[in-house]
Amino acid sequence: MKAPPRTLAISLMRNDDIPRVLHVESLCFSTPWPRNAFHNELNDNKLAHYFVGRFEDEIIAYGGLWVVLEDAHITTVAVVPQQQRKRFGEQILIRLIEESIMRGARWITLEVRESNEAAQNLYKKYGFTVVSTRRGYYSDNDENALVMWAGNLKSDIYQNRLRALKESLC
Ligand SMILES: CC(C)(COP(=O)(O)OP(=O)(O)OC[C@H]1O[C@@H](n2cnc3c(N)ncnc32)[C@H](O)[C@@H]1OP(=O)(O)O)[C@@H](O)C(=O)NCCC(=O)NCCS
Repeated sequence: MKAPPRTLAISLMRNDDIPRVLHVESLCFSTPWPRNAFHNELNDNKLAHYFVGRFEDEIIAYGGLWVVLEDAHITTVAVVPQQQRKRFGEQILIRLIEESIMRGARWITLEVRESNEAAQNLYKKYGFTVVSTRRGYYSDNDENALVMWAGNLKSDIYQNRLRALKESLC
């Protein structure tokens, strides 16, 4: 049985956070985003909302999304490898889902590598299902992306599910 989760202190990502985020990014992804990708998201993209999660004053997780009217699109989620499987990923994902709902989204989507079972399991736990495949989506190894969706985020069914998952985290 897992130990009770430690609380992640989640706040909006700021430009000052980018160097540490890039470090985590380099540990988590085979094709890390460059600095200007995060910089542009934070400063030029009005649809983008990015968050960092701190544990013991260090950024160990982050996530981001775009919200366009009733659709939200998760662009990235990561937890530094040494801190994975401690429910920090869940806490970041909940923040992204709640931000989406707060901004009016009913539907939320993302792409995930076909081989990334950890992430797929996390998303499935939060009601995402696979709706299609994008063949050869990842250019580094030609891997397919699974497109996952969840919704209706505003329905009683989804809200109850989210509440129950949050309670089980406490
Ligand atoms: C995917 C990721 C964010 C999960 O974060 P995490 O903090 O390790 O996950 P959590 O401890 O919050 O786990 C939540 C759920 O995710 C799933 N999960 C997480 N890691 C898993 C693993 N290694 N194997 C199987 N399922 C896993 C489980 O369903 C788990 O719930 P459970 O404990 O009730 O079984 C993390 O593995 C990561 O950063 N990976 C590298 C970056 C990445 O792949 N990001 C996603 C891009 S789409």
